[in-house]
Amino acid sequence: MTDCLAISSYAIKRASALLATGQLVAFPTETVYGLGADATDAAAVARIFSAKQRPAFNPLISHVANPKAAFSLGIETPLARVLADAFWPGPITLVLDRYPDCPVAMLTTAGLNKIALRVPAHDVACQLLSAFDKPVAAPSANPSGRISPSTADHVLSGLGGKIDLVLDGGPCQSGLESTVIDASGKDPVLLRPGGITRLDIETALATAGLNVKLLTAGPLGMSAQPLAPGQLASHYAPRAPLRLMAKDAVIDEELIGFGPIKGAGRLSLNLSPGSNMIEAAANLFAMLHAADRSGASKIAVAPIPDTGLGEAINDRLRRAAAPRHQGFTHRL
Ligand code: TXA
Ligand code: MG
Repeated sequence: MTDCLAISSYAIKRASALLATGQLVAFPTETVYGLGADATDAAAVARIFSAKQRPAFNPLISHVANPKAAFSLGIETPLARVLADAFWPGPITLVLDRYPDCPVAMLTTAGLNKIALRVPAHDVACQLLSAFDKPVAAPSANPSGRISPSTADHVLSGLGGKIDLVLDGGPCQSGLESTVIDASGKDPVLLRPGGITRLDIETALATAGLNVKLLTAGPLGMSAQPLAPGQLASHYAPRAPLRLMAKDAVIDEELIGFGPIKGAGRLSLNLSPGSNMIEAAANLFAMLHAADRSGASKIAVAPIPDTGLGEAINDRLRRAAAPRHQGFTHRL
């Protein structure tokens, strides 16, 4: 059952309480409705992928109430400060380096050491983010492959029964998703065009006196620039080589188990001893990172069934195990 509530202080409290217990809440932003979960709770974020039936784990945007909260999670750069001052709150998402102790779940950023941050300009989103007081991971609230929802009815027709609550704040103003900019370096890189235009950004940068060039991340193999994280073939992969479908560990290997296949090596990791796909998805990136840091020269992973989130888990494992091309794969 999916509840749908008109906006009131009760509705905001209820939504915040649901988020705090790992549930899913759709809420309006100035661009589209987002499907929100506590960004620091990997199992809650795994439920987003499950509800959307995404066949792959893409990194998600962490939504926060104000720029100060954003810059407590991602490392501020002079460029990010200018863009935040010019466009936040508003439809721009800044990709920054994660702080080493950033509490956002590894699944939210799909294992990357960069985090996408956004301060939405919508009264309901602001109220919810202030009440919850933690980052909220939220992709658009539609099933994978369907168009982004700009009303509560769109959300209900796509995800009704699969999520806990929709906050009905009426139609979104734009329907066009936020512009995504990697602002972690000196020059900004446009990762996804959106509500804020290239000209808007160039004007803001020039006004602030920043002498930088707005670069564009091109599709695979089409651009002279290295691919940015979150784009196409760019994915987190551990440093150590990965062996899939492993039933047991060979010497100096860290085996990440699943179900009855126990983990082996220094850490004895298991994605989910009870073969629960939400739990396995929640643990995936954190365990790959842990295995990589264990000092083992190789990482092995037990077979994962292709059911439910297993499809996305296997997609990510195959990419992490594939031969590496410089610039296309992001490591620790
Ligand atoms: O307007 C919007 O941005 C909406 C509302 C709900 O805020 N959200 C949204 O989220 O469109 P989603 O998940 O559909 O798109 C997230 C975009 C993707 O293009 C993803 O690749 C990029 O942000 N992204 C997220 N985290 C990233 C990261 N760490 N590095 C690079 N790109 C990232
Ligand atoms: Mg989307």
